[in-house]
Amino acid sequence: MGEFANNSRAIRRAFLDFFASRGHEEVASSSLVPENDPTLLFANAGMNQFKDAFTGKATRHRSRATTAQKCVRAGGKHNDLDNVGRTARHHTFFEMLGNFSFGDYFKEGAITFAHELLTDVFALPIARMVFTIHESDDDAAALWKKISGVPDRQIIRLGDKDNFWAMGETGPCGPCTEIHFHQGDDVPCSEEFAGRKCQGPACDCDRWIEIWNLVFMQFEQREDKSRIALPKPSVDTGMGLERLAAVLGGKRSNYETDLLSPIIAAAAVRAKKTFVPSDYSDGSVSVSLRAIADHARATAFLIADGVFPEKTGREYVLRR
Ligand code: GLY
Repeated sequence: MGEFANNSRAIRRAFLDFFASRGHEEVASSSLVPENDPTLLFANAGMNQFKDAFTGKATRHRSRATTAQKCVRAGGKHNDLDNVGRTARHHTFFEMLGNFSFGDYFKEGAITFAHELLTDVFALPIARMVFTIHESDDDAAALWKKISGVPDRQIIRLGDKDNFWAMGETGPCGPCTEIHFHQGDDVPCSEEFAGRKCQGPACDCDRWIEIWNLVFMQFEQREDKSRIALPKPSVDTGMGLERLAAVLGGKRSNYETDLLSPIIAAAAVRAKKTFVPSDYSDGSVSVSLRAIADHARATAFLIADGVFPEKTGREYVLRR
């Protein structure tokens, strides 16, 4: 973890270099304002700019790509706004690291790359990971076992809610496998406060943090609710840079990484308040400081992409 602790720039570069050296074209992030896509309010995933390459409407000269994509999740299908400040891991603005295969490699390639990057390059202990897969996906189960060598208990089958990913009401979609990292059983869990059992990687608490989602793109969801097969099975992955930075820095919260902690510190000085990293209590100063840091980034990046506060549409979301 050493060279990557408190060094998000090095993490981003290591991710892109890893995939570039394995035949992926390094493509710049698209704008937060999606081009020619009325189904999207903001770019919400790395795959957005490649939607037509997945569905076969466009062809790319290279069949593999990698990006660090600016994302805003503050509206539409993927909306994290209400959780911001209240958890260690949710944001309106974040960066998604991704690798993409347009009909090139599929499940085995995606899992092999993910395993190699996490264990060899980032040196994360496999004993602290679990891999969730779609309940129907025997191939993914067998591949994780073969490639990582983990025992069965580290491969968990979940349903559509957790392990089927879609960009929106329409568009490319498919079953996915998520990599979760164990942050510690002493991290508070609201299920336990309510007298129930923590659901582990399927729980909403911060004990297990999902760091990477590998989507096996196989279908296109149509407006008439039908689902058709994509021309070729493909891969779309998304890893939250802020989450990976927290894990590699030995932190339990994205807000304690170099991406966000300087903004919290600056806001706390100006407000003459103290930030308490472990304080998630309703209405607390620390919840507000996290929200300020998150919203400051979202605001800055949206304005840089030409969105200005107004009364309707994405401009209204920014104003809020
Ligand atoms: N496109 C994969 C994800 O957003 O998780």
